[in-house]
Amino acid sequence: MTVANLTSPAFDLKAITRPNILQLEPYRCARDDYKTGVLLDANENAYGPSVYTSSVALSRDVSSLVSSGLIAGLNRYPDPHQENVKQLLCNLRNAPSKGKSDIIPLTPDNLYVGVGSDECVDTIIRCFAAPGRDKMLTCPPTYGMYSVSAQINDVEVVTVNLDLEAKGLPLRADKVMEALSRDASIHLVYLCSPGNPTASLIDTESIEKILAHPTWNGIVVIDEAYIDFSPVGSSVAPLVTKFDNLIVMQTLSKAFGMAGIRLGVSYASPAVARILNNVKAPYNISSLTSTLALKALSPSGLSNMYKNIDAIVHQRARLLEELPKIPGIGNFIGGNASNFLLVQILDKPNGVPSSPTALRLYETLAESKGVVIRYRGKEPGCVGGLRITVGTEEENSILLEKIKETLADIYSS
Ligand SMILES: Cc1ncc(COP(=O)(O)O)c(C=O)c1O
Repeated sequence: MTVANLTSPAFDLKAITRPNILQLEPYRCARDDYKTGVLLDANENAYGPSVYTSSVALSRDVSSLVSSGLIAGLNRYPDPHQENVKQLLCNLRNAPSKGKSDIIPLTPDNLYVGVGSDECVDTIIRCFAAPGRDKMLTCPPTYGMYSVSAQINDVEVVTVNLDLEAKGLPLRADKVMEALSRDASIHLVYLCSPGNPTASLIDTESIEKILAHPTWNGIVVIDEAYIDFSPVGSSVAPLVTKFDNLIVMQTLSKAFGMAGIRLGVSYASPAVARILNNVKAPYNISSLTSTLALKALSPSGLSNMYKNIDAIVHQRARLLEELPKIPGIGNFIGGNASNFLLVQILDKPNGVPSSPTALRLYETLAESKGVVIRYRGKEPGCVGGLRITVGTEEENSILLEKIKETLADIYSS
């Protein structure tokens, strides 16, 4: 059966790609074509990594690294294509749609991998928005790096706030559509699902509606950094085989608990992924990162990840229940599809949401109580807002106790 391509009829990839990127002759190395043999092509050091040599006794740290196999071959440049990691990432996201005849499976051609999704954010802007000319659209409150990367690249940001009056701060897809109809210089839309700091999922119909915009030519980027804390099957990554104007970003930093290795992923049509791969530094993913990513994506790694997600979801339910019992805690502003909660702090027990009180609580917790959370009270729709990451059982007990104690002190002073 043929699967319908539902991309907007207005989508023209060449027209939105920066001209210098379209003309780019990507860097090629001998290793693109030949990977084995006596490797004297890349000016590496054939004598081995300097963290150990056979003539020097190994320290205990290095010895355990050597026996773990982690540092074998570190004198060689890493694989520029990362096919093995990409295949496992495809398998992971293909699994929920297995057997659905209207979904084409993802393949490594659909992928670009970056140094965290923060690198993906930047690469996408560098490919599809010309400095000083094109714009991108974001929907605050949202992840701060979109506008920071835009500013670094001299790309103007147009904002369409989420619905700040509605529960869970949902996307106003109609307002986004209108903004795109008005301004053809917007080349990118960055949406976060589940949102940071809202923890709310964006409904797939709204995303599909924007992707099928009848006149706008551009790319919609859905940042799914927290998607594995949402119900299984929530990811729209499989939709990149239906919509050529969709990029879905994910990361190993959150549910996988691998923030230290810096591995971000972009799923896209092969044509879009090719452009992103042309632009990246040739060896952007280190051997250490890919070795550990392969372990994280192996059956045992995935089973550990799912166990940790269960524990986090359990602790999230605990915080959802326990936080409101503390005098001075108001409503949860966003949803609960992530590993954090966005909660309002009141000016007094049973009072109204107050950003100064939230800021005072935040500062006191960090400076005197050894608990660091995130103040979000200045973000649109987040008056009195604190974003709290779900920790371990023990950490959450400390958090609950310290918040209770500190709020009581603040109200009595
Ligand atoms: C929504 C969102 N996207 C991306 C990132 C960055 O992810 P990475 O660690 O992959 O760069 C974060 C980090 O907090 C985030 O909240």
